[in-house]
Amino acid sequence: MSEYKYLSGFGSHFSSEDERYPNSLPVGQNSPQVCPYKLYAEQLSGSAFTAPRTENVRTWLYRKLPSAVHLPFQPFKGAEYFRQNWDEQPPNPNQLRWKPFDLPPKDGKRVNFVEGLHTVCGAGDPRSRHGLAIHIYSCNSSMDNSAFYNSDGDFLIVPQQGVLDITTEFGRMSVAPNEICVIPQGIRFAVNVDSPSRGYILEVYDGHFVLPDLGPIGANGLANPRDFETPVAWFDDRDVKDFQVISKFQGRLFVAKQNHSVFDVVAWHGNYVPFKYDLSKFMVINSVSFDHCDPSIFTVLTCPSLRAGTAIADFVIFPPRWSVQEHTFRPPYYHRNCMSEFMGLILGKYEAKEDGFAAGGATLHSMMTPHGPDVKCFEGASNAKLVPERVAEGTQAFMFESSLSLAVTKWGEETCQKLDAAYYECWQALKNNFQITKN
Ligand SMILES: [Fe+2]
Repeated sequence: MSEYKYLSGFGSHFSSEDERYPNSLPVGQNSPQVCPYKLYAEQLSGSAFTAPRTENVRTWLYRKLPSAVHLPFQPFKGAEYFRQNWDEQPPNPNQLRWKPFDLPPKDGKRVNFVEGLHTVCGAGDPRSRHGLAIHIYSCNSSMDNSAFYNSDGDFLIVPQQGVLDITTEFGRMSVAPNEICVIPQGIRFAVNVDSPSRGYILEVYDGHFVLPDLGPIGANGLANPRDFETPVAWFDDRDVKDFQVISKFQGRLFVAKQNHSVFDVVAWHGNYVPFKYDLSKFMVINSVSFDHCDPSIFTVLTCPSLRAGTAIADFVIFPPRWSVQEHTFRPPYYHRNCMSEFMGLILGKYEAKEDGFAAGGATLHSMMTPHGPDVKCFEGASNAKLVPERVAEGTQAFMFESSLSLAVTKWGEETCQKLDAAYYECWQALKNNFQITKN
């Protein structure tokens, strides 16, 4: 049985039935007033009812019981570092680098995906639907008889270690390192793991992730729509009496009990769906003559703001590729940016800093915080013979780039104890090479 079908493009219409129950989708206006198999119809709206047609997203779910059947929500105890308080720490304009974040301790304690969420930095407020948060997850056990949904925004999940087996209301997805998935606002899901697992999450409050426009690149390139996959309908046939639904609502977690599983959707149709993408399928566009393209050329997905061309957050990768430019310094340039740049490393070593930036770690270069290649990279690239070469082979670095100025949490700055106080030293040995005569 195939777990997935290809998306033919964002905004397309999809439909899916659990293969055990054929013809479970009502057919247009010829449907009876009772759904096939006596299922309940429930709409999940991902945009305002009146959003323009190009942005209007919703899905109809045909399920055994409506989601409304649950006991009242209570505050959830756990995940104490999953918080959106941007005023815990004074602002820090320094270059920040984290050593790899901890996996769960090997003391036998079980930590599931929700319990293992830790917020590193962010900005804005889910109540006004503007902003973002960046989290690390670190877990070693599965979510048994429980599910999570985010009332505040979308999750873009980037596994770094361990495969995530994700059950959603729409069906199941397996997401491995070097793949990503997006779980849009409100969609319930549970994560199963069979080994210690770690990764990064970009949460956006403003809107949904979409493919970037390609402009003069044309119809093909970067992340191609046909490579995105969404689950086929599947439901949990077990008789579950004690199920927990955990909701992130206005930055806090709440839990409600119910005597049925949320994974009871037999069929669905619509265009508001979870999806996954294999980063190895990204079609790299790069310079083939001279000069250095901006990293926006590597954008996989973007959450646009209302300002033209300016993202709440872009998800950008630095995949293996050919480097063939002439007459130019090939690694990333020295840089000061009106955007915030949070980087992570899924595997391998990052070309601009081969030492110190390790898989499972991160860096944050905030607004107008200078950054760029370290001494070793600068010296090497300044003297390299400019022949075509493969770069970033065996690696996958990524960037969450935002037009918002990000505050670091107390967990990110202190509690996690991974901040590398010596990071600034990587630039200190750069020499002033200025000379009156031309080289
Ligand atoms: Fe930069």
